[in-house]
Amino acid sequence: MTDELQRFGELLSSRRTVNFFEPRPVDHQLIHEAVEVARWAPNHRLTQPWKFFHLGPETRSTVIDLAVELAVKAKGEAAGAARRERLEAVPEWLAVASRISEDTLLDMEDYAATCCAVQNLMLYLHTAGVGTKWTSGAVTREPATLHALGLKPDEYRVTGLIWIGYAKQRTESNRGPLSEVFSQLA
Ligand SMILES: Cc1cc2nc3c(=O)[nH]c(=O)nc-3n(C[C@H](O)[C@H](O)[C@H](O)COP(=O)(O)O)c2cc1C
Repeated sequence: MTDELQRFGELLSSRRTVNFFEPRPVDHQLIHEAVEVARWAPNHRLTQPWKFFHLGPETRSTVIDLAVELAVKAKGEAAGAARRERLEAVPEWLAVASRISEDTLLDMEDYAATCCAVQNLMLYLHTAGVGTKWTSGAVTREPATLHALGLKPDEYRVTGLIWIGYAKQRTESNRGPLSEVFSQLA
């Protein structure tokens, strides 16, 4: 294994979901670069099924209000207030949407391609020392969220709301033994 390959492997395996962020901004140019490399993900038939949105204050506030509303409905006012505090502490938000297709195979492949793009994006930011969290909570499935992004709910689904920022603390995560998921066949 070359040093370059070893470093690349370490970058892939050292990325962890970041739950809590330092209250400092992330260079918007870096986010732009991450989106540029994200869209080099594989996509069958070159459908380029993705859309990326860097949320400005207004859109972000709309999405947070929607998420808080859902938390209040599900768990009450205190949960809503806690949710707002948590969400407002996230320095930068990207929404990633994927085109919906009536063709089941195309729909699956487009969603898969968009997920690959999200991983590209997260790994690019991780390499730059910036943390991310891929979220797919109930707010991603709200038609109002799609509207806030300027999309039609019957044309796109939100693949994820990606939180971006410098990690305040690292959350550990593990994987089971490789032998449970990998088989060398004859
Ligand atoms: C499609 C997708 C959706 C996710 N949605 C959420 C989410 O809504 N909330 C959450 O806490 N984590 C979410 N995650 C992050 C996973 O929980 C996280 O990747 C997992 O715990 C492994 O941790 P790691 O990323 O640090 O390896 C999501 C990850 C993926 C791939």
